[in-house]
Amino acid sequence: MNEKQRLESQQAVQEGNSSDKKSGKDYSKYFESVYTPPSLKDAKKRGKEEVKYHKDFSLPEEFKGMGQGRKFYIRTYGCQMNEHDTEVMAGIFMGLGYEPTDSVDDANVILLNTCAIRENAENKVFGELGHLKHLKQQNPDVLIGVCGCMSQEESVVNKILKTYHQVDMIFGTHNIHRLPNILHEAYMSKEMVVEVWSKEGDVIENLPKIRRGNIKAWVNIMYGCDKFCTYCIVPFTRGKERSRRPDDIIQEVRQLAAQGYQEITLLGQNVNAYGKDFEDMKYGLGDLMDEIRKIDIPRIRFTTSHPRDFDDHLIEVLAKGGNLVEHIHLPVQSGSSEVLKIMARKYTREQYLELVRKIKAAIPNASFTTDIIVGYPNETDEQFEETLSLYREVGYESAYTFIYSPREGTPAAKMQDNVPMEVKKERLQRLNALVNELSAEAMKKYQGEVVEVLVEGESKNNPDVLAGYTRKSKLVNFVGPKTAIGKLVKVRITEAKTWSLNGEMVEETQAVEVK
Ligand code: 5AD
Ligand code: SF4
Repeated sequence: MNEKQRLESQQAVQEGNSSDKKSGKDYSKYFESVYTPPSLKDAKKRGKEEVKYHKDFSLPEEFKGMGQGRKFYIRTYGCQMNEHDTEVMAGIFMGLGYEPTDSVDDANVILLNTCAIRENAENKVFGELGHLKHLKQQNPDVLIGVCGCMSQEESVVNKILKTYHQVDMIFGTHNIHRLPNILHEAYMSKEMVVEVWSKEGDVIENLPKIRRGNIKAWVNIMYGCDKFCTYCIVPFTRGKERSRRPDDIIQEVRQLAAQGYQEITLLGQNVNAYGKDFEDMKYGLGDLMDEIRKIDIPRIRFTTSHPRDFDDHLIEVLAKGGNLVEHIHLPVQSGSSEVLKIMARKYTREQYLELVRKIKAAIPNASFTTDIIVGYPNETDEQFEETLSLYREVGYESAYTFIYSPREGTPAAKMQDNVPMEVKKERLQRLNALVNELSAEAMKKYQGEVVEVLVEGESKNNPDVLAGYTRKSKLVNFVGPKTAIGKLVKVRITEAKTWSLNGEMVEETQAVEVK
């Protein structure tokens, strides 16, 4: 089928026609199993349907062995959720008999696991697809797939269908477990296979995973987001909030502890909404953390928090310390109550500061980091100044900072914007200067102190130096034996830089106070 015919068939499908009246061809197979167009309209209409839990996932027998003699390569863009989805897809590939490869030139299947959060994230993917066009010309048998958040966007799917003919398959964030079927379809049809479900609501357990390391692991606790901040595409690309059952999470963390993992990060787009969708019990993130902290694993983190749902019970539990680290990532987005209102963040500057005050009172040595967007539509100089003043007032140790990027289909994208790009860039620079200043200040406090470091491996720049992170996520480089990799060691800080610390390992036997 050529491109024109394919587009005609989609049109037929979109119109609810399963056969093309002109040619008499039957396109029902596209309607049923192949072409399910993504739709923002559907995403917005989602209701409160019951969450279904599937605990019996297994790879279809008929597809096992599909990957014999074949290699896969996955390039991941964006957040930890995507990184973790890549681990699941790697698990599925390996279960089908594929082998991993680090080189696109060696791969028989190439997947781009994409991010839609800002325009530049999307542009990187389109650029990469451009490069892959040559590879496809040289080797037409290689399968190229696009998955992740961009695939959930109708406009992206249409653009790929129209322009990027080197792509063989597009599948969405709710279709990952269908990877074996999608691959099979792509091998059989040699036409672009598109499977993107707007409907979500299911939680699938027991998916295979090949984790990227054996020191730190990610564990999903919930999926999706129902907050609908006016700038954000995530509630559309990731669907509605649905939580995994506590027993499944606890069992996964216990298994990871038994396998020797040292650090777990609990993942969700809005982890503080954990459990809100349970109809049979009142159980939130505080309750979950209170159980997980009893598991014998040295460090537990969670990300990402929404200030609105950060409740007193959670603070109480975090204050128990132990393996619950005292690093709180708490995205604020703006220091102006007016901008926060337009963003639909559902808290004011004062409420945010009150939450920080409460957390600091309960956990005096807590460190805070945040996410900030500058140049929101019509943001004034005064409103931006409020962001700077809030940054100082909280005393963040670091931040991810962004220029607002309009995302199609979100309410903010329809807003008139009177802030010129140069002004947005200037604001970002001023904010980043402040971020650097406070980061350097926070680092200086470590000079001469002893910190606990989870050693992850050799430093990227120097194989003679080891690198790891403190409980508060500070990067530490130090000279030490390779046997320390994967372990918690004590390091005395000899030099504090803006973004990292240098130090020397302290003998096991020395009694020191650890920060
Ligand atoms: N433009 C700029 N930044 C955004 N973020 C989310 N959506 C946008 C957007 N449209 C930022 C927020 C969020 C982080 C993950 O990305 O700060 O917390
Ligand atoms: Fe996006 Fe807001 Fe949900 Fe975070 S809480 S994922 S910023 S909609």
